[in-house]
Amino acid sequence: YPAEYIRNFSIIAHIDHGKSTLADRLLELTGTIDKSATNKQVLDKLKVERERGITVKAQTASMFYDYRGHRYLLNLIDTPGHVDFSYEVSRSLAACQGTLLLVDASQGIQAQTVANFYLAFGEDLTILPVLNKIDLPGADPAKVKTQLQSAFDMDPDQVLAISAKSNLNVDQVLPLVIEHIPPPTNTVQQPLKALLFDSWYDSYVGVVCLIRVVDGIVRKGDTIVSNHSKRKYDIAEVGIMYPEPTPTTSLQAGQVGYITCNMKTVSEAHVGDTFYRLKQPVDPLPGFVPAKSMVFSGIFPVDSAEFARLDESIEKLTLNDASVSMQKETSNALGQGWRLGFLGTLHMDVFRQRLEEEYDARVIITQPTVPYRVVYANGDSKTVRTPAEFPEYHEMASTVSETQEPMVSATMIFPQEYLGAMMDLCSQHRSGEQEHTFIDESRVMMTCKLPMAEIVDDFYTQLKSRSSGYASFDYEECGYIPSDLVKLNVNINRRPVDALSVIVHRSQVEFVGRSIAQKLKKVIKRQLFEVAVQVVAGSRVVARETISATRKDVTAKCYGGDVTRKMKLLHKQKEGKKRMRMIGNVEIPQEAFLAVIKK
Ligand code: GTP
Repeated sequence: YPAEYIRNFSIIAHIDHGKSTLADRLLELTGTIDKSATNKQVLDKLKVERERGITVKAQTASMFYDYRGHRYLLNLIDTPGHVDFSYEVSRSLAACQGTLLLVDASQGIQAQTVANFYLAFGEDLTILPVLNKIDLPGADPAKVKTQLQSAFDMDPDQVLAISAKSNLNVDQVLPLVIEHIPPPTNTVQQPLKALLFDSWYDSYVGVVCLIRVVDGIVRKGDTIVSNHSKRKYDIAEVGIMYPEPTPTTSLQAGQVGYITCNMKTVSEAHVGDTFYRLKQPVDPLPGFVPAKSMVFSGIFPVDSAEFARLDESIEKLTLNDASVSMQKETSNALGQGWRLGFLGTLHMDVFRQRLEEEYDARVIITQPTVPYRVVYANGDSKTVRTPAEFPEYHEMASTVSETQEPMVSATMIFPQEYLGAMMDLCSQHRSGEQEHTFIDESRVMMTCKLPMAEIVDDFYTQLKSRSSGYASFDYEECGYIPSDLVKLNVNINRRPVDALSVIVHRSQVEFVGRSIAQKLKKVIKRQLFEVAVQVVAGSRVVARETISATRKDVTAKCYGGDVTRKMKLLHKQKEGKKRMRMIGNVEIPQEAFLAVIKK
């Protein structure tokens, strides 16, 4: 396919601004998918994506479009809109020459609009602004055009206004793409150089790699080499996503498509890797900055007999999600499990949901922790990803010179009437100096530094509720600062329960300690004996609650002698027990591990 008739583009947008809907419309318009198909949101392939209506993994689809006497091959690379997944966004952008910046005309520019704009700008892409949802009564295209002008210096006359839902002006989108986004460079004569930008495991054909061919051509039967591992692969199939994998005879410079080869596991498909033809090595492409885990959490099977099966499920799931980091972990309370690192709390939640739905796994997830740093008096330092790795009280005094916590620089956009509420919210989460500017006459953009630990919790939920849903939020990490950190341990009837330990800032010790003790009191059922819950910092008891003894008899309510009903209830009680963890002789329900630090 001649490069001059190829366009590689993506759509970037804040979450819910209509990216997947527009993608569907473009695929319909080009006849790539059936208009009547009930199978909407073609690009959102994961079940969790459809259910939650969010894009998690970037997807790719090719389409053909006739314009001014020529047939064009258009490759659309979808991107996630949520703050946790900007790693996926930069990955997709590396495969394009241009992007549509889609903005909801009723909501205007939001935090991820700003973040995604700068990602695309940094990649030197052509950025075409498009307003969506102009059919909504609340749409104010003129105002949003002003925002685009003041935030990104865009010409208001160059902004296309559409409704992806009602199809208004959608027919103008592809002509815009063809006329303004440059074609990829035509370097088909040069030796093969291809960028691997995504991969997944398919149970029929094995590993499928999405590649962008930068130079040269690749065909079925070719032998290629991974620059990263120097392993050789024989290509079994090449093709384009149309929108399902569709074989073609070749992929050439400028094209985006898939290959299958004798690759055994997705771990061999190193995202950002460069492929070249056997015996024709090339200078590798720059690759990607690896995804960085921001949030670490322990995952344990509810029933320890399920360890092996869960191990397999986690393995499979992480194979298709290279951004999850994993190591084994053992807890005295929860037994064998894993410490997983995620890009953010939504990412963690999506992972848990997939584990439960796709692999039918029942798991306990412990309170997420950010990576803290401990500097020792002798000059050594280490990163601490779990409370268990944090020095105990006596070590702190004798060997540790400083503890540090990671910070983020946060951006929030909201209507001006919420300025007070947002300033309070940030101050309550230990923010540094706050700065704000107006992006139009009624909307404020606020920036400040926040400890990362403060945003992995319920910050996002509070931001949404205190701004009636109007505030948007984005952040990026910005290094470590010295911070006075304390580890709180929880003892239940004098036995330490390591999985309940947390690391907090000294100013929060009393408050968090009391709230942990109270929450545990609520979720731990009364036992046949008295249970003491203590939260301690070193040897000092910060908070204490007592759960008095009781006798639990679930059959007491069955008057008369209905034996089957009695059996049913007893069985139910047994089922309930399965979801309990015995700590010493105290039963602790699964919820306890989650409830601990939700402030
Ligand atoms: P993420 O993938 O999570 O980033 O979301 P998205 O940007 O792909 O948004 P999506 O296409 O799922 O649309 C979000 C919601 O907006 C859906 O309920 C759509 O039906 C609705 N929507 C999309 N386009 C329009 C439009 O032009 N007008 C109106 N009224 N609603 C729209």
